[in-house]
Amino acid sequence: MGCQSKMALAWVTGAGTGIGRAVSLELARRGWIVAASSRTESRLGSLAEEAAKLGGSVIPMALDVTLRDSVDVLVHHIENEIGPIDLAVLNAGTYVQFGASEFSVEAFQDQFDLNVMGTVNCANPVLKFMRDRESGHIAVVSSLTAYRGIPFASAYGATKAALTNMCEALKPELEQFGVDISVIHPGFVKTPLTDQNEFPMPFLMEANDAARRIVDGLERRKFEVTFPRRFAFLLKLARCLPYSLYFAITRRLVKQ
Ligand SMILES: NC(=O)c1ccc[n+]([C@@H]2O[C@H](COP(=O)([O-])OP(=O)(O)OC[C@H]3O[C@@H](n4cnc5c(N)ncnc54)[C@H](OP(=O)(O)O)[C@@H]3O)[C@@H](O)[C@H]2O)c1
Repeated sequence: MGCQSKMALAWVTGAGTGIGRAVSLELARRGWIVAASSRTESRLGSLAEEAAKLGGSVIPMALDVTLRDSVDVLVHHIENEIGPIDLAVLNAGTYVQFGASEFSVEAFQDQFDLNVMGTVNCANPVLKFMRDRESGHIAVVSSLTAYRGIPFASAYGATKAALTNMCEALKPELEQFGVDISVIHPGFVKTPLTDQNEFPMPFLMEANDAARRIVDGLERRKFEVTFPRRFAFLLKLARCLPYSLYFAITRRLVKQ
């Protein structure tokens, strides 16, 4: 599959706002046909209009990724009625900040249901089609928080670490079937999700910039797409620190 191919088909989840919307527009601008999914139909409609103004093609396909049966029906519909999915960008996700004093099963459940099981629900039917035709590319949107446990992100970080680990595990297996998998580790990106954050967000970047880097990385079939570079470097370095040093840093985040 050539990423520049005019008729290549991408499916993007969480496409209504933020990173997913920007990635959908970037793909459409580069000649992809984009099936765009999230729950709110009006946002998908405006996305399709915006893409059309750029000369691109976005097909709105409302979906709640936590509903496994609905995901199966939609993926079969895309494959049978629109065409084979060349690239699936599994991006739908959320972040709920809470500390140990508000620790709750519900906060974990909601984030795991959407971030982990929503991604798995989508990967499941797509992978079956891709394995059968021995081609295709799945990209999972994780986060730099996957690298190490960060205070006030115990649930979110755990969901993203699970996704990254899943991609690492699947990579050599899927290669046997001619299927590629990528994991995307963004730092802070300005979106409706991060607009709620009241803490300082180092190296915050615009969604359009993030989308360009994501699509550039996917075009090159990179396994890991990570940005911004300096923040990613610092967090990769933190991965190598012994616990004594790492906790000396994260304790300061808790006391602030
Ligand atoms: N922004 C950042 O700094 C950052 C950094 C690292 C990783 N990420 C990851 O990037 C992804 C996108 O985040 P974002 O910042 O762009 O957030 P966002 O602006 O809140 O976008 C999330 C999108 O997911 C959709 N969505 C939510 N629940 C859904 C569901 N059950 N089924 C289908 N779609 C659903 C939302 O639309 P509806 O509500 O209409 O469904 C929305 O379009 C997430 O996985 C996030 O964890 C973000």
